[in-house]
Amino acid sequence: MSARVVVLISGTGSNMAALMEAAKDPGYGAEIVAVGTDREGTRGVEVARAAGVPTFVVPFRSFSDRSAWDTAMSDRIAEHEPDLVVSAGFMRILGPAVIGRHQAVNIHPALLPSFPGAHAVRDALAHGVRITGTTIHFLDEGVDSGPIIDQVAVPVEDGDDESSLHERIKVVERRMLVDTVGRLAREGWSIDGRHVRFGRTDMKENR
Ligand code: GAR
Repeated sequence: MSARVVVLISGTGSNMAALMEAAKDPGYGAEIVAVGTDREGTRGVEVARAAGVPTFVVPFRSFSDRSAWDTAMSDRIAEHEPDLVVSAGFMRILGPAVIGRHQAVNIHPALLPSFPGAHAVRDALAHGVRITGTTIHFLDEGVDSGPIIDQVAVPVEDGDDESSLHERIKVVERRMLVDTVGRLAREGWSIDGRHVRFGRTDMKENR
């Protein structure tokens, strides 16, 4: 039986689209059961709808405070009974209502713990690093601070701007995301402190 995956996005959704493509293979081990977003009119949601994947929108601005939004988001996610939530270009911080109820991973376009936050590619360029990359990690209640599952390095080239560098990161990011979500789905995982291992063990077991 495939793992049920809810994907959260805020924009283009190219990572979501890569997951949807991979999940067409029954051997992949994960099924995208819904796509959620925090804002109306995103391109990624249109792509998901066109592919027949259920979508939901929980607009941040419709709630009086962050905690009410977080609870609503958690409830909408729960309706789809996910085994795993994948934040793939979701640009809001998920709070305790989501994190405490759902197992969730996030992709981030930098080699964490360097350059957390919403402008990782810009911040890495401004700092003058020669190597940056992408990270997939479990979510905890901090900002981009949870246990790391995998990372891939991407060299900065002379003449790179934020857009050219981000596009190269996204190429490797999509591959990393597809590989990691597939392995989590097929093999399960355990988390021991900051260390994530594939495979089921006696430690904190999921699924
Ligand atoms: C991805 O590069 C992802 O790492 C980044 O947004 C992009 C979404 O692209 N996420 C963050 O910056 C989160 N802090 P996509 O919509 O084409 O998948």
